[in-house]
Formats: sequence, C-alpha cells, structure tokens
Amino acid sequence: MSDLEIKKKYLKKIKLINHYNKKYFNESISEITDAQYDILKKEIISLEKKYHFLSHKDSPSKKIGYKPSKSFKKVLHRVPMLSLGNAFNEEDLINFEKKIHNYLNDDQNIIEYSVEPKIDGISASLVYKNGLFVKGLSRGDGKEGEDITENLKTIKDIPKKISHKNFPSEIDIRGEIFIQNSDFVLLSEKFANPRNAASGSLRQKNPEQTKKIPLKFIAYTYGFEKGLNLDKQSEFLNNLSQWGFRTNPYNKVLKQTKNLMKNYYDIEKKRSEIDFDIDGIVYKVNDFNLQSRLGYVANAPRWAIAHKFSSNKGISKILDIEIQVGRTGALTPVAKIKPINIGGVLVSNVSLHNEDEIDRKDIRINDYVVVERAGDVIPHIVSVEINKRSNDTKKFLFPNICPSCGSRTIKEYNNITKKKDAVRRCSSEGFECEKVAIEKIKHFVSKEAFNIDGFGKKIVEKFWDLKLVRYPQDIFKLDYSKIEKLDGWGDLSVNNLKYSIDQKKKISLDRFIYALGIRHIGIETAKLISRHVKTSKNFLNLQNDSTLTEIENIDGIGETQIQSIKSFFSLKINRLILKELDQVLQIESLKKITNDGLLKGKTFMFTGKLLNISRSEAKNLIEKNSGSLVSNVSKRLDFLIIGEKPTKRKVESAKELKIKIITQSEWMKMLNLTS
Ligand code: IVH
Repeated sequence: MSDLEIKKKYLKKIKLINHYNKKYFNESISEITDAQYDILKKEIISLEKKYHFLSHKDSPSKKIGYKPSKSFKKVLHRVPMLSLGNAFNEEDLINFEKKIHNYLNDDQNIIEYSVEPKIDGISASLVYKNGLFVKGLSRGDGKEGEDITENLKTIKDIPKKISHKNFPSEIDIRGEIFIQNSDFVLLSEKFANPRNAASGSLRQKNPEQTKKIPLKFIAYTYGFEKGLNLDKQSEFLNNLSQWGFRTNPYNKVLKQTKNLMKNYYDIEKKRSEIDFDIDGIVYKVNDFNLQSRLGYVANAPRWAIAHKFSSNKGISKILDIEIQVGRTGALTPVAKIKPINIGGVLVSNVSLHNEDEIDRKDIRINDYVVVERAGDVIPHIVSVEINKRSNDTKKFLFPNICPSCGSRTIKEYNNITKKKDAVRRCSSEGFECEKVAIEKIKHFVSKEAFNIDGFGKKIVEKFWDLKLVRYPQDIFKLDYSKIEKLDGWGDLSVNNLKYSIDQKKKISLDRFIYALGIRHIGIETAKLISRHVKTSKNFLNLQNDSTLTEIENIDGIGETQIQSIKSFFSLKINRLILKELDQVLQIESLKKITNDGLLKGKTFMFTGKLLNISRSEAKNLIEKNSGSLVSNVSKRLDFLIIGEKPTKRKVESAKELKIKIITQSEWMKMLNLTS
C-alpha cells in the first residue's frame, strides 16, 4: 500500500470514530458496541505506531473525552445508589407531602425539609475507611458501579485523608462530579454540555487525561455508614463541610410547600448566575428517623423528591407525524419536527401521546408548535402557534389499521375507569406483528430484564433484519459464524457478545417474569409473583387456571394483572417460547432478603383502621420482618389483625376457619414494638 493509500485508510477511520463520538456525546446514541468501538480505536493507534507520519487532532491518542471504555472493574455498591421521583409543579409537591402524612398516619406533624439545588452532573460514591479515601465508584446501574478511584483521586475537592474525630470509621460519601460553566467554555467545542464533558473525562482510561479537566465535587448524601451518629440531613451537610467536603452554598432547611415554592422560584431566577448547571431542587425529609420509617418504593425514596425546572422551551415546525408501534401494540403518534436545540439537547422527535391529544390541541402537520423538554422526560408539545398557521397545514388521520402488520386497531374498554382507553392498539397477538415482536425482544434484553451487555436496541433491529432473531429464545441459539462475517464484527466482538449472552443464561425468576413483557406485569409485580410461586416450574404451571386463582390472593395483584397473565398463557406461541426458554436457561428462585425475620413464613391480613400507623407502613413492617400479606381470608392466612371497626364478614370467616385473630398491639408485640 502506498503512503497515500495508508493515509486515506487512516483518515477514513478517524472520520468514523469522530462520527461515533459525536453521536454518543451529543445525542447519547451508541451506533456500535463498546467492543467494536475499542477495536476501531486500537486500529487507529496501531496504524499511528506503525506509520509515524500519521497524526490527527481527532485521534483517540490525542483527544480527551472520547467514548469511555467498558473496561473499568465493576464493583457492587454496599448500599444501592437510587434515583429520585420527579415533581413538576406545586400540586405534585402537595401530593408528595400528602403521601408522607398518610404513610406516617399523622397529618399534624409539620415536615421539615433539607432543600438542596439539584446539580446536573455525574454522581459518584467515595468509600472511606479509617479516614482514608480507598475506593471511588460511578453510579453504574445503581447496584453496581465502576471502579474509577484513580480518576477521582485527581479531583482536588475530594479529600484523600480525613482525621476529624467524629468522622465515621467507615462511610460512602456520595455527591456530584461536575464542571463549572466558566471552565466549560474551553471545552465547549468537544462536548454538547458540561454534564457530557464531566462524564467523558471521568471515565477516561488514563487518569492523567482526567487531571487535565477541572472537575469539581459537591457532597450531599451517604450510602453505607458505621459510626455516624446524627439525627438530621442538615446536620450531616454541616459535618460534611467540617470534614473538608464542598457542599452546596444554596442548601437550606424549610417547612411547608408554599415556602418550597418560593425558594424554587428564587433559585430558578438565580440559575444563570450560578456557576454550575442545576436542573431542579431536591427536597429531603430532614429527620433521619422519619426517613427510615418512610423507606422506599421501587427505586426511589418516599422521603425525597426532585422538583425539576421546566423552562426549557422552543418553537419549531412539525414536518410530519409518524406512528410508532410499541411492545404492547400501542400506537403512539410522534411528531417529526425541524430539529431545534432546547437546553443543550437537539430535539427532532416529539411525543404526541395519543390521538385524543392531537384532537384536543388541534395539532396539524406544518403547524408551528411550542415544544417543552423537562429534565430527562420525552419532549412534548405545549401548544400550537395558531397565529403562524398557514394554508398548507394538514390534519392527521389516525390509522384504523396497524402501520406495521395491517391488523385492525382498537381502543379497549377499561373496566376500572369505565371508559374507553385513550390509546389505540394493534389487535394482533403474540409475535404476529413485526414491530410489536421487535419491541418485545428489545424489552427482553433491556436493563431491568436480561440486561445483556452489548445487546442494545440497534443490535436487536439489525439481527431482526438479518433474520437472526424472531423470538426471545433465538438469542441463546445465535449462529455466531454468520455474525462473524458481518461488517464491523470481528473475532473479539463476537466472543464478547457470546460471553455476555452465556453469562445471562442464569437469571433470577423475577427478572425472567418481567422480561416476558406480559402487559401490566412490571418489575414490582414480577417480584411479587416470583416470591409467591418461588420456582420457575410453578410459574409455568400458572397456565392451569387452578394455580392461577392462587395468585389472585396476593396483596398487590388485581383483576387486571390476572386477566393479563391468563391471556398471555392462552396463546400457543407464548407457551412454546416459555418451554424453549426453560430448556436453555437456568432460572433461579428469588432469594429472600431476610429469611429469619420475626414473622418468618407467617401470613397476615388487616381489617379496620390502625392506630398511629398507616396501612402501607404496617404492610412494609411485615415484609421487612419476613412475613407476607394476603388479601383474602383463606386457609393460607395465619393471623387476622383487627383495628378499629373491622369488617364483620372477615372476622366471621376467620373464626370459621379457626384463624388466629389478634389486635394491633398483640401484633406489635410480635415485632417487639409498643403501640
Ligand atoms: S440525593 C436517594 N441530593 O440527582 C436519593 N441527589 O435523581 C439519592 N443529585 O443520582 C440522591 N443533587 O445524581 C441527591 N442534593 C442532591 C442531589 C442529587 C443532584 C442527583 C444525583 C442523583 C439524582 C437523583
């Protein structure tokens, strides 16, 4: 090959890597797997080593802030790093507080909040042992982070040694890594916003590269701790500053939603003066004791919420309206708009929710519309600019047939609301509709389901087009010799993929149930079902109506879920998929969190009003102590707990079945608590 040809080949690769970097950092899109990216990177670097005349400013050997590598060691967080629920307005805040009062069964208590501006950066967890910073982890998926200790050590705001007497012997200090706006100016050519810049530089393989970026750290919470004796979040924040951490100068302690709202508007006004990006305010119940009573729902605490700023709006033109078909057959209209930059993100697709929304807002093709993007929520249309409407606008006719498979579309009748659903669905079943089938497979490999590394949405689409997958079980029977021959795939990437897939053949029962994508069976319901059925064999047995009626008894499972499971099992294709998956997978029963709580193996049911405790807190206390709840009086019930004004019928049937009937205080004694 001549020098010219070599240079041409090299520049082609540089152009390619630059394209992937831009997609990744500016649009968060990974067009290739990490393994493929690493191969491309290696090829460029080895060409440079071989031919010294090759050099380019965009080469991965020169650039800081290219796509992070996956090769950081994964480490489990001792306490998971959770996320926060969102509030967008005063009503959401009032509801948040109402739920707290209800849960605590005490609406007299005036809740005090630690009020903290929400920094839009990258969260990190710093492990300290005997005053020494020993390990630093990224958030990762919340359960497992990456070991980025060496990179974090380059950050000046992170104390490496703390010798204060009251510093706990062990603690994970958590906070946000970010870049100040004034420092970002110098990096703005390479990154879309300070957050991307912080994320990219934090995950550099070489800490020397991280050191070049002025990263900052503000601390705000902790995970695991041993020896922290404090009562309030605000005290903790004060201690953080004494120990040498930077804390947010705008932190406050406030009571009552009207004061929270006032502070929200004050901070929002100051937003442009503050030298780091904030995207809302976090409210945390200040009292640690109340925090622990309130506990968590799914992945977020009941005692905290993020109040997002919303003033990210822009005006653009609707070029077209397309229909997306989802996993459950739902047809979602999406407006393709002339791309506009809203708050640092390029928006070209806007969700229109459903056909009623299009009618209500009278949205037409070629209309100019106000688009709003709040935090990480999908952008939506606020209103149509009627004054700008011209003669060429076209009303959108919602299709009566599915654009993917041609089946009839239907609006289901909702038994609970007693109304027709707003969502129109494709009436096909199982895997008959191509778009639905693809979405089901995407769901199957998604993060909370099988979570197969390197098997993202793009790969699902590609493998579908190549007819490599049609059903979930095909993932475990891939013809790797075919994949090897595909453009952009080599030995290494095929081996990586095979390894990731093989690793996930062992799966917990709850994830397995969730992965099936049964309508109305989210991750929490899947957990409930798996706790009840215990083994995959029992789960598969739910095809028989008699076993299905048993799960009707689980507290938290209603008629909608039962119907949905029934119709799932009634389809031949689903039964076949289950059979084949069962043969290739090792489905593990759900591990009990605590097996030896005080109420181990016992079932409970409440009737009547409880004193000083809400139903939800009581229910959680039972579950925390290894007991379980049932929703009907049956032979499976061990204790019926009666509060004020119990339902007569329940008490009588319990008596008939000789079930133990106890009072609230007797129950609390079982837990060594006094009412
Ligand atoms: S507390 C369980 N406090 O917001 C509560 N988070 O959506 C854990 N964040 O991942 C978080 N400022 O990256 C907390 N003062 C603050 C925060 C804050 C920013 C980020 C953090 C977290 C996300 C939650």
